[in-house]
Amino acid sequence: MNETIQDNLNYKKYVIDSRLKYFKPHSTKIEKSFSEEISFSLNRDSKFIHPKFFYDKKGSELFEKICTLDEYYPTRTEISILKSIQNDLFELLDGSFRLVELGSGASVKTRLILDVFNKKYDKIEYFPIDISEILTESSELLLKDYENLSITGIIDTYEGGLEFIQNYDSEKNLIVFLGSSFGNFSPIEGAKFLEKINSTMKHGDLFLIGLDLVKSTSVLEKAYDDSKGITAEFNLNVLSRINDELDADFDLSNFKHYAIYNEKDQRVEMYLKSLVNQSVIISKSNLSLELHKDELIHTEYSHKFKIEQIKELLGKTGFKIQKIWLDKNNLFSLTLASKN
Ligand code: TRP
Repeated sequence: MNETIQDNLNYKKYVIDSRLKYFKPHSTKIEKSFSEEISFSLNRDSKFIHPKFFYDKKGSELFEKICTLDEYYPTRTEISILKSIQNDLFELLDGSFRLVELGSGASVKTRLILDVFNKKYDKIEYFPIDISEILTESSELLLKDYENLSITGIIDTYEGGLEFIQNYDSEKNLIVFLGSSFGNFSPIEGAKFLEKINSTMKHGDLFLIGLDLVKSTSVLEKAYDDSKGITAEFNLNVLSRINDELDADFDLSNFKHYAIYNEKDQRVEMYLKSLVNQSVIISKSNLSLELHKDELIHTEYSHKFKIEQIKELLGKTGFKIQKIWLDKNNLFSLTLASKN
């Protein structure tokens, strides 16, 4: 990045030009938490790696690839719903709104919402929040295609980004959280997160959330273990990232991607399975790990929902539902809600 750099308390501000700026927490904050979190989450009997660590540059690219796979129905289905609700959204946006996106990634779906804003407003403001630097590339592409757009990117966790926006100014926000990323939280964490979003919202703000629905085990398991092995590569990539950034010696060929649908808890569970008894050193986390054959490192849950559960969940976390839309096969949902 070639830009003006300013320091504020927690963030560095990079001003690229009049239409594009980024905020990024001071790097020491991020690095410290990565090594600390890994040392906590792997140094225990039931091991896990937090899924937010999937999204380094390579991981984000692999995830974009997953989104185009035949077996991975969520992305294209959500896109089809977004296309079908553009007129509804146009009507439901009362007054001027700014678009805030949690986990914007490559901002593909964002365009479908920006198109609505473009029709409605002379100027558009977009605040993508993403843990990955992929945000910077996708922003530049968006600016080329939308002349009246300005972008303020926040390269941080969702919580960090939400607090940042809450303290920023008093414009009305449409906060979007797509891709069923919400399903990656545990039910308790998820409810807390919705409360967090709700607490940073003003009256008049809107929240649009994409949630994947319960369906057959075989469809779900294929979506999370595709025949080309891209999902496996994506899951294993988190170990390469630990190798690179925390100076570790994971041998990726000693691990296997493992995905299974847990019907009772309504979630696809993703793991990295140790294929042998092995030891691994993670220098920057001060950790020497012993893994036995078939031991699982949990990496992600992807919860699936029923419509009744969506209503209950949003209701109890302080939202009032405006509308729920589904695709024609009832695979996926989009819900628009306001602060109650
Ligand atoms: N939010 C995505 C989902 O739950 C993330 C995801 C898709 C994922 N495929 C994955 C995470 C495979 C880990 C492994 O659908």
